[in-house]
Amino acid sequence: MRHLLGIEGWRREEIETLLDRAEAHLPRGSANASVLQGKVVANLFFEDSTRTRTSFEMAAKMLGAQVLNWTAAGSSVSKGETLLDTVRNIEATGPVALVIRHRSSGAPHLVAKHVRCAVINAGDGTHEHPSQALLDAFTLRKHWGKLDGRTVLIVGDILHSRVARSNILCLTALGARVVACGPPTLLPVGLKELGAEVTTNLDAALPQADAVMCLRLQLERQSESFFPSTREFSRLFGLNVARSEKMKSGALVMHPGPINRGVELAPAVADGARSVILEQVANGVAVRRAILEVCS
Ligand code: CP
Repeated sequence: MRHLLGIEGWRREEIETLLDRAEAHLPRGSANASVLQGKVVANLFFEDSTRTRTSFEMAAKMLGAQVLNWTAAGSSVSKGETLLDTVRNIEATGPVALVIRHRSSGAPHLVAKHVRCAVINAGDGTHEHPSQALLDAFTLRKHWGKLDGRTVLIVGDILHSRVARSNILCLTALGARVVACGPPTLLPVGLKELGAEVTTNLDAALPQADAVMCLRLQLERQSESFFPSTREFSRLFGLNVARSEKMKSGALVMHPGPINRGVELAPAVADGARSVILEQVANGVAVRRAILEVCS
């Protein structure tokens, strides 16, 4: 694997091989601690990030690499430098891999056609966030052993969510049933073709789910009004305490972060016994170590 641009096109065996490799990189593991010794990984974040950027940085350092952290803020992007000029100039400094987040869907794919080093998609617009889906699948596999026959309910702003798209592809490839739930205006066309079932009735879907993945309401990507108010969205699609009590015994609560506390997820549920949100973050380092090891 030279690049990681998306989950689309991956076969089950390929996903499982990557997740198996990540097992060797769990936080206390030391597999291949020097595989990137003397090499540089460049984090290029044209959009803000906490979890993805820091965990790719930690993952690269744990493999022995030096890390170049570049963000668009404070860069020559403000002077009009193009995406391709920016990445070509950074590539000229010698990294073995570019980890790219960009607001435009397809940006990492474009970059991959113009550079020689590996390109890893750290989230492109509303398209894909492949490393997030892999760490989510890894987290579920740690709890369940395998995903076959399990139901994952993805709730909220699916229209703007690259996490939802990558997860539908990844989780269904691994044998899970995925149900996408949100207001009709936030359910994009094409979900069934991706492999998901679709519903607008959270209360009916909730008791069937083995895991509920709440998504952030991405107000920054919304140029029009998709629902009457945030309060109305929360009332119909927020996972509050009363709703969480209707979940199956042992069912898990997930969120890719950052959380709008009190909107898509109540603080008591986010921090409650069902929540695996911080496990997702911890597992992200192991999964990103495996990705860097394979791509670099
Ligand atoms: N899950 C995720 O992508 O979080 P960040 O935006 O903080 O990287």
